[in-house]
Amino acid sequence: MIRVLSCTQPTGNAHLGNYLGAWRNWVKGQGQDTERDNFFGIVDLHALTVTESPGVVGAATVDLAAWYFAVGLDPELSTVFVQSHVPEHSQLAWLMECTLSYGELSRMTQFKDKSAKREGHFISAGLFTYPALMAADILLYDANEVPVGDDQRQHVEITRDAAIRFNHRFGDTLVLPEAVFPPAGARVMDLQDPTSKMSKSSSSDAGIVNLADPPEAIMKKFKRAVTDSDTGPDAVRYDVAAKPGVSSLLDILAAATDSTAERVAGEYTRYGDLKTATGEAIVALLEPVQQRYRELIDDRGELARLLAVGGAKARQVAGTTLRRAYDAIGLLPA
Ligand code: TYM
Repeated sequence: MIRVLSCTQPTGNAHLGNYLGAWRNWVKGQGQDTERDNFFGIVDLHALTVTESPGVVGAATVDLAAWYFAVGLDPELSTVFVQSHVPEHSQLAWLMECTLSYGELSRMTQFKDKSAKREGHFISAGLFTYPALMAADILLYDANEVPVGDDQRQHVEITRDAAIRFNHRFGDTLVLPEAVFPPAGARVMDLQDPTSKMSKSSSSDAGIVNLADPPEAIMKKFKRAVTDSDTGPDAVRYDVAAKPGVSSLLDILAAATDSTAERVAGEYTRYGDLKTATGEAIVALLEPVQQRYRELIDDRGELARLLAVGGAKARQVAGTTLRRAYDAIGLLPA
């Protein structure tokens, strides 16, 4: 059996990067032959690293739960839980903080980027120790596979380093996880700035396809996507370094149609046609998801029930692993 774990922070709007880079892969994994035991978290404690107002994270948690089920997570096949409902995350995170070094955490690109963006503002210690909490999220579930977008690669690497060091110090206790990326869509780029990834913290909304955007808005964003001024029969080709905008559209279209960027490139000669086709493919892909989201978000009671069931299941697994880690260290039993 393969244990699968992945998570999303409840901050900002759900966007196309989340869907193509991560969630769609989670849903596909549910239908595979190999037996998989899936855990998908809504990591509200992670969101606190950048949250300073009351109520915001709770509301975003419910919203994200609706998106999780709307994209197709099936409560029969996947355990969907909220991080703060499982206290073991914070408990193992402390052990991980004592396993990772200050130097390792200082080298994390996400910390460097996010703290640079917040220059002159409050930078929480949590933003710095974030990878320790993320390592705990993964290791608590003995995860073999962690399906994520490319931006999480370094975080899964440091999780492996933490597990290796812990096992070396205290004996074989924690399972080493592997990051798993989708063949296309692992790094969805901002449509207005195709050298930056699409992100909740992007400065302009025109570059982000929100999952809740109506079809007309999605088409408009794709039609206005930044490309380049090449012309000629081979202008539409996949070359990330030389043609980031066109390559990003090809990657999105490939992800949406289960194809490859090179193959879809062969079908277009004009940028306008590529933009329209990509927009239409995304609209078609999102339409049923948006429909289910609208139904689910109106049924708060059912969402709360599903999260309570998931939380209880997650606690069972997490409790066992935490106990194992405490025992390996030799903490005095209570
Ligand atoms: P988060 O909440 O930023 O994003 C959730 C998932 O969406 C993917 N993603 C993207 N994929 C492709 N292109 C993009 N532009 C794009 N933007 C986001 C992310 O790679 C991720 O898979 N640190 C994590 C949350 C986390 C986590 C975990 C993930 C906490 N604990 C344990 C896995 C396992 C994060 O901030 O993802």
